[in-house]
Amino acid sequence: MNGLSTIRAFQKQKVFFKNQISNLEKSNTIFLISSAVFNWFQQRMNLSLTLLSLAAFSFILLGDFSTAFAGFIAYFFLYWENEFLWFTGNLFEMENLMINFERCQWLTQIPPEPAYATRTNYKISQGKILFDTVSVKYQESLENVLNDFSFEIKPREKIGIVGRTGAGKSTVFLCLLGMLYPNQGKIEIDDINIKSIGLQNLREEITIIPQDPYLFEGKLKRALDPFEEYTENEINKVVSLTGLNGFLKDKCKDSILDMEIKENGANLSSGEKQLICIGNAILRKKNIILIDEATANIDMKTEEFVFKNINSFFKEATVLIIAHRINTVLNSDRIVVVDKGKIIETGEPNLLLHDFSSSFHELWKDSHCSSQNQTK
Ligand SMILES: Nc1ncnc2c1ncn2[C@@H]1O[C@H](COP(=O)(O)OP(=O)(O)OP(=O)(O)O)[C@@H](O)[C@H]1O
Ligand SMILES: [Mg+2]
Repeated sequence: MNGLSTIRAFQKQKVFFKNQISNLEKSNTIFLISSAVFNWFQQRMNLSLTLLSLAAFSFILLGDFSTAFAGFIAYFFLYWENEFLWFTGNLFEMENLMINFERCQWLTQIPPEPAYATRTNYKISQGKILFDTVSVKYQESLENVLNDFSFEIKPREKIGIVGRTGAGKSTVFLCLLGMLYPNQGKIEIDDINIKSIGLQNLREEITIIPQDPYLFEGKLKRALDPFEEYTENEINKVVSLTGLNGFLKDKCKDSILDMEIKENGANLSSGEKQLICIGNAILRKKNIILIDEATANIDMKTEEFVFKNINSFFKEATVLIIAHRINTVLNSDRIVVVDKGKIIETGEPNLLLHDFSSSFHELWKDSHCSSQNQTK
């Protein structure tokens, strides 16, 4: 029962009980209708078969048939009536159950992403990124989410992307991963248009640490190294480098790598989940790292540790960090402020911070006030 403690803490038991009863009623209504339809059908079938049997018996009584043949007809109609009811009942049940299969089949018929099957063997060697007048929309019928979006990132640069919610920050990452293609302009990595790189290849070459990472149930070792590519020594090094051993030592009795992680990391905080993703990113040693900072209540201690050390963890990589708390990107080389799908400001964090007329300063003030309110 996930969330039970939250419901109790806010004393919302009555609301949830009411919702639960209403959902139960909806489910029972459907069940009741389905049973009623089945019974309606069965009664009509019974009636029709009985009439048919009566006709057959009258036929035997009135006709001049041998005893053996009359017995056969009588037995056949009595037996057939039951079998037919059994058959139609099962057909009805099967039709119901096959809805699951039908839905799965429908999923298999969705066309895959066009470039996914394209095999390329491209390695990102420098991590230079170029967005050249990129415009992107989620669907043909919708407005552009990024508009004439242009910027260039040098190899090994650490960029902080900031902006209000819905500004289009995560969309920039989706474009880099080939989830959305520009309807205008182009995106290049190391001077190669990402359109010409196979999607699987492109995604293997970029590491992303998402806003709310998903972890599968299993041991910590598997979460850090899902494809069993690295030695225990290498994994242990990453565990101590990221400080995971310190954060998780109270949660396990034996070796830290054998620590059990519950489905979706239910026994870890958002910060710890992101640390595991960072550990995985350090092991993979890719040249482009995308970090979408957790918006959930990541604990301050973990957050401070993570963002202070990003530069040293990924010294050789180009790092793009989407920040919701401005303090976390003050160590970046450059800040990009996004608003309504456009870049409205870019520059060094300290210069922008001390320019009282800048949007970055405005965002910093908001973020500072809200974090102070939270502390109170
Ligand atoms: N799947 C989608 N379909 C249609 N529109 C979408 C979709 N995802 C996002 N959008 C829209 O695109 C715009 C930019 O969304 P995006 O997720 O990039 O914002 P963001 O800057 O990352 O916000 P946040 O700080 O809340 O994470 C928003 O207006 C949003 O409503
Ligand atoms: Mg986002």
